[in-house]
Formats: sequence, structure tokens, C-alpha cells
Amino acid sequence: MADKTALVTGASSGFGLRISIALALRGYRVMAAMRDLGRGDELLREAERAGVASRLDPVRLDVTDAESIEAAMAHAARRYGRLDVLVNNAGFAVGGFAEEVPMDDWRAQMETNFFGVVAMSRAAIPLMRKQGGGTIIQLSSVSGRIAFPGYGAYAASKFAVEGFSESLRHELAPHGIRVVLVEPGAYRTAIWDKGFSGIRSRPDSPYRKTLEAVLEYSRRAAATSKDPREVAELVARLAECRAPRLRYAVGRGTKLTLFGKAALPWRWFEAIIQRTLSGKAGG
Ligand SMILES: NC(=O)c1ccc[n+]([C@@H]2O[C@H](COP(=O)([O-])OP(=O)(O)OC[C@H]3O[C@@H](n4cnc5c(N)ncnc54)[C@H](OP(=O)(O)O)[C@@H]3O)[C@@H](O)[C@H]2O)c1
Repeated sequence: MADKTALVTGASSGFGLRISIALALRGYRVMAAMRDLGRGDELLREAERAGVASRLDPVRLDVTDAESIEAAMAHAARRYGRLDVLVNNAGFAVGGFAEEVPMDDWRAQMETNFFGVVAMSRAAIPLMRKQGGGTIIQLSSVSGRIAFPGYGAYAASKFAVEGFSESLRHELAPHGIRVVLVEPGAYRTAIWDKGFSGIRSRPDSPYRKTLEAVLEYSRRAAATSKDPREVAELVARLAECRAPRLRYAVGRGTKLTLFGKAALPWRWFEAIIQRTLSGKAGG
């Protein structure tokens, strides 16, 4: 049988880099897609260290650029003739309170985190349908289930990914294509620094105090988080799973928080979130 083939978007750093290595270690040929191939050095170094560099195929791909998506899929079809696993990982986080985040930033957030996922999934489906199956794994977030203040744009993009994927799973099940959502809590990757550095807030902002408390909470959560390899391992396991569930929450406290949202009266849950993010609660 031909080699198993995977395509991972956003493979230049963070989860995407580690997912590419984890899949290569499981014997996949991995199209490690990134929008700037010049940013692939860390991935190649890590792959060499793991002894899987020959299994990686760096591909240029910007998930907001239709032509580059088409070219990457044509490359997959031509070179491998199949695509077993698509990992929609590329993404970033816009931070800031709704009133202060410019509309262009709201649109950019949806363009990459949501429309990028839709475009990549649509592009992969014909090949997967033709070969009689495949797996599409979406890097959602705990923010796709629970919305925190200061992350409205990010939460909206991930809630959209969740709704889209739930529907897509029904559509593709008869064709043997599995759709899975991975919902990490905070992990230490570059996403935090990139997001924090782009935050728009006026010095006289009425939200300044709350925003600072939220950011401080996020920084602390990311700094004390577990190794992002945990998420990569989960994704690699799901790639092999014959009958995965729709959702996989992962990360410190993530399952408990989701359980709290499902089980507690909304007023109680809301009060806990507000107290935690205002810095009044311990830990
Ligand atoms: N870290 C966390 O705590 C956390 C928690 C929950 C969910 N997530 C999700 O996990 C995914 C990966 O994030 P990460 O934490 O690994 O962050 P990261 O280290 O910043 O990696 C994000 C990757 O996405 C790429 N990317 C951004 N926009 C792109 C575009 N338009 N086209 C192609 N690639 C693009 C980046 O490429 P460049 O190098 O070119 O910028 C980078 O490779 C995201 O979807 C994020 O929302 C992260």
C-alpha cells in the first residue's frame, strides 16, 4: 500500500511543527505547509533530531490564499495520489475588547481561523472522497466552547469552526471521512506573544483594568501550561483512530471548565469566570 499522507497547515511553529514530527514518526509522509518556506528551519532541525527529515515535504501554503490552496492540493494529488489526514492547524489570536478591535482585525481573524479551515476542508474533500475515506482534524480551542472577555474575535472564529465541523461530520460520514475537533486549553506556543503584541487598547480605555487582568491571567496560564507535544501526540493518535469522537478537550483544567459550563446554572458559571478573570480569585 502507498505511504499514508498528511497535510498540516501552520507547520512552521507551535502545535503545527510538533504535529508534523509526531505524524512523521508514525510513518506518514507529511506535507508541512507554511506560508513562508523561509520559516521552516526550526521544523527541519527538529525533524533531523527525530530522524524523520526525509518524511517531511515542506509546502508553501497560505490558508487565506485560494491559489496557494489549489496548488498545494494539486501537489498532493500529483506526488502522492492521496491525502489520508488533513490537520487544519494554522491560526492566530486577536485580543482586545470588542469596541476597541478594528473591523479589519475582526475580518482578518475570521479569514484565517474560520474561512481558512472551510477552504482547506473543501479543497481536501474531493481527494478523500475519491480514495474512499480520510480524516480532517480541526485545531479548535477551549475558546470554541467558552468565550472569555478580551477574546471575542478569537472565540467567534473558533465557535464558527465548531459549528462548521459538527455539520461537516454529518455530511462526510457516509463517505468514510472522519471530522474531529481538538480543543486545547492554554499551551506555551508563539501564539500568545503574537496575540499580546497586537492588542489594541487606548491608554484612556474604559476596559484597561479588566484587559490587563485578563492578559495577566492568560500569561500565567500559558507560562504554567503543559508541553505542547501533548496536543501533537493526541492529534497523531486521532489520525490513526478508526472511530474518533467529534470533540477532544485537552489541557490543564480544560475538561473541568467545560463540565462546569455544562453542569452549572449559567449565572454561577458566569460569576466564576468573572471572578477568576478579575484577579480576585486565587490561582
Ligand atoms: N497555544 C495555545 O494555547 C492554543 C490553544 C488552543 C488552540 N490553539 C490553536 O492551535 C493552532 C496553532 O497555534 P499555536 O499555538 O501553535 O500558535 P503558533 O505557534 O503561533 O502557530 C500558528 C501557525 O499558524 C500559521 N499561520 C497563521 N496564519 C496563517 C495563514 N494565513 N496561512 C498559513 N499559516 C498561517 C503561523 O505561521 P507563521 O509562522 O507564518 O506566522 C504558525 O505556523 C491555532 O489554530 C490556535 O488557535 C492554540
